[in-house]
Amino acid sequence: MLQLTILFDRLRWEEKALKKEGENEGCEASLLDAKGLVLEVSTPRKRNGLGDLALQRCISHYRALYLTKILENMSLEVVNSSAVTENCGNKLLTTLLLGKARIPTPKTYIALTPDTVPQAAEALGFPLVMKPMTGSWGRMVSLARDGETLQSMVELREQLQNPAEHMYYLQEFVKRPPRDIRAVVAGDEIAACVYRYAPEGEWRTNVARGGISKAFKPHGRVQGRAVSHARQHSPQNNQVRPFTGQEVDW
Ligand SMILES: Nc1ncnc2c1ncn2[C@@H]1O[C@H](COP(=O)(O)OP(=O)(O)OP(=O)(O)O)[C@@H](O)[C@H]1O
Ligand SMILES: [Mg+2]
Repeated sequence: MLQLTILFDRLRWEEKALKKEGENEGCEASLLDAKGLVLEVSTPRKRNGLGDLALQRCISHYRALYLTKILENMSLEVVNSSAVTENCGNKLLTTLLLGKARIPTPKTYIALTPDTVPQAAEALGFPLVMKPMTGSWGRMVSLARDGETLQSMVELREQLQNPAEHMYYLQEFVKRPPRDIRAVVAGDEIAACVYRYAPEGEWRTNVARGGISKAFKPHGRVQGRAVSHARQHSPQNNQVRPFTGQEVDW
């Protein structure tokens, strides 16, 4: 019987539901708290009793990424591969992938030092959006309406310890309705799709910031674009397409 290991760092109802579905599909499914793992990594063939197939559900981006790399090195199949995690968890890598595939994406500049931020801002114009390259729930995703505000944002970012925060991902502000669309793609289909409405006094639509989700039946254009976005993240993976969330504004 196929042994499925569901790795998590915070156990939510979704992980329990996935375990049940795994069992319904005939797997021997188990839940494993990644925070308790100590793995020998110098002997790549040793699977450390982690089963045949893993589903990576860790919320922490770097924990998920490094643990998945370790599992893949043990020749354990991970449904959501490290390549997908790396690209989806990094806004710069996602922008590069979408741009290469000529999929419309907001105009974006990278300034590799604080000193070159004004140059990028001049090319984009105001208002503009500044984002950390990795991160979620809208944290530190900031709107600069003018050069002075942008300069203060840069000064604050320069105080952070992480050197990755000292490179600047700057994006045009997309004039959109006070909502956007989130589509979750599994294989070649949209598994779930919602409109996300920003709460009062907030421009970001993240549910973590008080945004409201409403079910939305995707029409053909949304369907086509969401699937082609997701494909850019796993073009090589024909058997098991990952669960890929995409943020899209149409
Ligand atoms: N360029 C933009 N123009 C207009 N609104 C934007 C832009 N970029 C982001 N937003 C808004 O800010 C929100 C957060 O941005 P983004 O999705 O990039 O951050 P995140 O931290 O990765 O969020 P999540 O955890 O939902 O993926 C988006 O859902 C959208 O509502
Ligand atoms: Mg995101």
